[in-house]
Amino acid sequence: MILAIESSCDDSAIALIDIQTLNIVYEAKTSQNEAHKPFGGVVPELAARLHAENLPKLLTGVKPYLSNVKAIAVVNEPGLTVALAEGVIMAQSLSIALKLPVLPIHHIKGHLYSLFLQKPTDFPLSAAMVSGGHTLLIEAQDYSRVRQTAISLDDALGEAFDKAAKMLNLDYPNGSALEAAALLGDENRFGFPLPLKNDPKLAFSFSGLKNSLRLAIESLNAIDAQTAADMAASFQKAAIAHLLDKTRSYMRRARPKKMGLIGGASANKTLRKRFAAACQEFDCAPLFAPIEYCGDNAAMIARAAIEAYERGLFCDPSKIQIRSRAPLL
Ligand code: KG4
Ligand code: ZN
Repeated sequence: MILAIESSCDDSAIALIDIQTLNIVYEAKTSQNEAHKPFGGVVPELAARLHAENLPKLLTGVKPYLSNVKAIAVVNEPGLTVALAEGVIMAQSLSIALKLPVLPIHHIKGHLYSLFLQKPTDFPLSAAMVSGGHTLLIEAQDYSRVRQTAISLDDALGEAFDKAAKMLNLDYPNGSALEAAALLGDENRFGFPLPLKNDPKLAFSFSGLKNSLRLAIESLNAIDAQTAADMAASFQKAAIAHLLDKTRSYMRRARPKKMGLIGGASANKTLRKRFAAACQEFDCAPLFAPIEYCGDNAAMIARAAIEAYERGLFCDPSKIQIRSRAPLL
């Protein structure tokens, strides 16, 4: 089995996966949402302190299986440095105490393998990664050959959802609250402009859209619940339209046969539906992770780590590099 640790942002998570059967043998996660709620966003130092408290508690469930563990996988990049460090320290301690090798795992590769939980991989494929920290188009040949073909020039999609929800005084965590509000709203009431519409660049930008929402809010004296819902729905419509506008440009050019949608914001049901429809226009098969594995979790890290294990990509525990930003290749 591989024991995986995820602590790149505000979720402390541990999972055990069977290398041969791909079964998730154990998984546990502690969300820190309530702790960060009063601040309206993730506070890095608080996240780190809570990882230090939570990870050892989650680890107790692994005890019965420890003799079967062959390697310790840990996310070392990208993410909040102080948060990543807590997982890495735990991986180093376990590696030394149990004499097990360490597999450092790139967080985005983890999300990619959320498409292949409890099943074999299906490469090559392309994917749109939409999370709080990233909005990317990626192409993957196999575990070691994953490259990005488009990035966001400013905010990530999830980050834009978070900020929009905050502006509309919606509940925390914001992305899912914005989706919930949008369900009750009229997405055609406010016409927000499509970012980079006449720009041939294959890139994303969400900061202009965020600004359009701010101006719409400021133009009204008061925002009742229905108006907030209409704004949420109109904002969501524009953000998804932008993501899919550029994803379509990519599919038109690259003609991928399979396209995954990964990252925390891929839990958004309207996005999933429209993404699937866009893929079908190009005879491309859409791939999704189960909704409960879209956000950060350790099972996807463990799944990615099986590939790293089979390639022998072990690291001396004293040499694990922690990086807040890290390219895929
Ligand atoms: O992958 P993830 O858990 O953490 C990062 O690696 O960033 O993604 C978290 C992001 C947050 O910005 C959150 O607001 C967004 O995913 N998110 C959503 C939804 N659920 C989570 N965005 C839109 N709609 C959702 N239902
Ligand atoms: Zn993530």
